[in-house]
Amino acid sequence: MKDSLWRQPYLIELTYADNFSLVENSIRGRNLRVLEVGCGTGFMSLELARMGHDVVGIDMNEKILRIARRTMETDPHSKTRGDLRYEVADFNEWSDDPGTYDAVLFSRVLHELPHPRKILSRAHHLLKNGGRLVCLEYAYDGMDRRAATWLYQIRRVLELLGWYSSHLPENPKEGVDSIMKANLYGRREHINKYDEMRHPLEQLFHGGHFSWHCYHCWDVFRDMRVPDQKKEKALASLFKGMEQILIDSREIQPVLFLFVGTKAPA
Ligand SMILES: C[S@@+](CC[C@H](N)C(=O)[O-])C[C@H]1O[C@@H](n2cnc3c(N)ncnc32)[C@H](O)[C@@H]1O
Repeated sequence: MKDSLWRQPYLIELTYADNFSLVENSIRGRNLRVLEVGCGTGFMSLELARMGHDVVGIDMNEKILRIARRTMETDPHSKTRGDLRYEVADFNEWSDDPGTYDAVLFSRVLHELPHPRKILSRAHHLLKNGGRLVCLEYAYDGMDRRAATWLYQIRRVLELLGWYSSHLPENPKEGVDSIMKANLYGRREHINKYDEMRHPLEQLFHGGHFSWHCYHCWDVFRDMRVPDQKKEKALASLFKGMEQILIDSREIQPVLFLFVGTKAPA
């Protein structure tokens, strides 16, 4: 945990917990059957089960699912929660009966999956008529120079104070260029762009909701190391608050979107 956001509860509150609130507010109803694709450590699947839903979480990474299972087995709320089951599987090859689920959730995974239209068609097939698709996704191609400039300023100040683990060039222009490159051009694998996800989402699911959310600050939180925890907490809240202001005033482009839609007839 020490190298991740899970090292501090206040960082979780500003990141994973806020993401879960978005999902929680999007899955309405009681005792639903929910599928989470790419559940990772399973924190969302577990919370959904604790809300009384019957949840299946799948992930192709066996090691990460071991953590999910361990958390499930040591859950103090195990007697009162809904069913919870994890499966190690590649969603491209995994199947269940058509029309099984009331809700299918993708959280920060669809951008990684090649052929998103095919993936979303599989989710469509697994949903009941009127079932909900909840997609909380990273659109990396939304990164713009203004966001990179803002990030450079924050990261460089933290670096100069000795509170940041990586090192950006001293020259601001080179620093901003390196953030742009790392986010936009420096990737080895293909990651789906915003339009590659948004188009099939809108075609296959009737959009009930669409919104943008803070995500740039996650990178800062991951690598900052402020020795005084009170100061780190205050700085993290400040950075997230600033990102929200910059998004709301359209000064920077956001990169995390929430789409919630209902199964449209095939
Ligand atoms: C960035 S993590 C997101 C984890 C979690 N959903 C969250 O929001 O924190 C993406 C996860 O998707 C999983 N994944 C990637 N491709 C997959 C596939 N084809 N089938 C199932 N899981 C996949 C990865 O193993 C990883 O655990």
